[in-house]
Amino acid sequence: MTLTNEEKRDLIHAAKQARKWAYVPYSHYPVGAALLTQSGIVYEGVNIENAAFPTTMCAERVAVFKAVSEGEKQFEAIAIVTANAGMPCGSCRQVLSEFGLDTLVIIADTEGQIAHELTVGDLLPGAFRPGDLIPDKTSPPQP
Ligand code: THU
Repeated sequence: MTLTNEEKRDLIHAAKQARKWAYVPYSHYPVGAALLTQSGIVYEGVNIENAAFPTTMCAERVAVFKAVSEGEKQFEAIAIVTANAGMPCGSCRQVLSEFGLDTLVIIADTEGQIAHELTVGDLLPGAFRPGDLIPDKTSPPQP
């Protein structure tokens, strides 16, 4: 599915609105993300920092985890908004790649200007994917 310009604008707007809930007392770098699922629902996410720095969670992964925890695994697009249209980190690229390489990634600034529009596959060539796991016959079957 390709998004219309209006749909892209709405997704960027949702990410920008969500961004105000970012918890960023250490970096002061708020990130807002809005993930559109195939069923048409938008899951928003923000970065949530922690005094134990490595436990900080990125906005994109919060959005993905919210969606998956609600039973949604098919993603059309994710908009990511920061002051400078920053790129998603490697961990977020990996998490997104689990659910499909064709998801559109729209990277925009707080003015709504799109800096990059590309797919998850473009962002993470050679991603380690579910099919890369060697089946282990000793593992119990998944429910
Ligand atoms: N951050 C994100 O939320 N997403 C990314 O893809 C890159 C980095 C956050 C983590 C941290 O709260 C702040 O930006 C600075 O690294």
